Amino acid sequence: MDDKAKSEVLFEITKDQLETGLRGFPVGYCTTSTVDPYKGLYYTGFPVADMADWDPLRVIYRLFHGKEGNPEELKKFTADIAKRSIVSPKVIDQIYLLPREGHPMKLFCAALLIAGMFEGTGDYQEDCLNITAKIPCIAAAVINRHAGWGKIKASKPELGYMENFTHMLNMPGGNTEELNKVFRLFNVLHYDHGGGNLSTFIGKGVASGLEDMYGSLCAAMCALAGPRHGKANQDSLAFVQEILKEVGENATGDRIESFIRELLKNDKLIYGFGHAVLRVEDARATILYKYAQERYKDFPLVKLALLLRERGPKVLGENPKISDPFPNVDAISGIVLCAAGFPYPEYFTVLFGLSRCVGIARQIVYERLEARNKRGTPIVRPKFLYKPLNEQTD
Ligand code: MLT
Repeated sequence: MDDKAKSEVLFEITKDQLETGLRGFPVGYCTTSTVDPYKGLYYTGFPVADMADWDPLRVIYRLFHGKEGNPEELKKFTADIAKRSIVSPKVIDQIYLLPREGHPMKLFCAALLIAGMFEGTGDYQEDCLNITAKIPCIAAAVINRHAGWGKIKASKPELGYMENFTHMLNMPGGNTEELNKVFRLFNVLHYDHGGGNLSTFIGKGVASGLEDMYGSLCAAMCALAGPRHGKANQDSLAFVQEILKEVGENATGDRIESFIRELLKNDKLIYGFGHAVLRVEDARATILYKYAQERYKDFPLVKLALLLRERGPKVLGENPKISDPFPNVDAISGIVLCAAGFPYPEYFTVLFGLSRCVGIARQIVYERLEARNKRGTPIVRPKFLYKPLNEQTD
C-alpha cells in the first residue's frame, strides 16, 4: 500500500458514535458482497436480483471465485461439492442424541461443533468447501431430529444442492416441486449480506483468534439466532399472523394503516421493517414480494404482507427518528415459505443459517488466508474507553 493510501482518512470517530453498534465504521474488505443503502445487496459486484433464479451452486461458485464459472468449471465444482457432501454417520448419530428442547438454532450450533470434531481438517479452505457441501445434510438432520420427523434419508447430491436438502428433510406431506423452488430462492438470497452483518462479523472475529472453521461458524450461528438478526424471520411471521387474527382476511389498507398507528402509539415493534444499512426496500424483499404476488397472491398472509408493505413505510416514514421505514427480507421470507408449504417457523432461522454459513465461510477464508498479501488479518481487538460505572452517557 502506498503512503497516500495509508494516510487516507476513511472515517473520523466522534464520541457520540460510541455505543452505536459500530454502525458505518469501515473495518475491512469483503470480496463476496456489498450492501448499498439505496440499491441493496450485490454479490461480487452484481445485483442479487440478477442471480435470484440461478442454480445455487452457480451462485456459490461466483461468490467463491469472484467471477462466473464456465460450464466446465461449474461441472467440476458441482462434482467436487457432491463428493464432499457425505456427512459421517457418527456426526448424524450425535445430532440425533441432542435434546429436542429449546430452539432448533441451539441444535444447529451444536451440530456444527460436532461436525467439526469428527470432520474438521484444520484447513480453512478445505473446511469452507466441506461445510458448503455438508451443510444441507447437517441442517436437514437438525430439523428432522428437532421436529421428530424420523431418520434422515441417504443423501443424493445428484438431485441438486437444495433439492437434496428437500429430499433429506422428512417433512410430512408438502409439494416437493414447490418447496424446491422456494428453498432454492431463499437459499440464494441469504448467502451473504456484506462483511458487517452480525453473524459474519462475529464468525470472522472468532476466526481471527485462529479458532477453526466449524467453531467460528458455530459462533456465527449463535449470533444469527438472536431475534434482532436471523430469528427476525420467525418473529416477523408471528407478527403478521397476529395482525391477521386481529383484522381478518379482508382488511383494507386504511384498517392496516390505523392498526400500525395503534401499535406505534403503544410503543410496539413493527417487525420486518427497517435495517441498519438499507434506506430503501431490501432488494431481497422486493424479489420475494414479486414471487409471492405471482404465485400466492390469494394466500391471506401474502395479502396482508402486501398491505403492510404499502402502508408501513408511509406511517413509519412520518417519524423523523426512523431512518429506514421500509420492509426488509424478513417481512416476507417466512410468509413465502408458509405459502409454499413449509409452515414451520421454528426452522426458518436454520434455513437462514444453512445459507449464510456459505458466505461466512468464504469470508473467513479471505480474512485468514488471502487478506494483507496472504498474511491474514490480525486478531480483532477494538478499543473501549474507560468510564466510571455511574457516569451517564446518551
Ligand atoms: C442480514 O442479511 O445479515 C441482515 O439483513 C442483517 C444485516 O445485514 O445487518
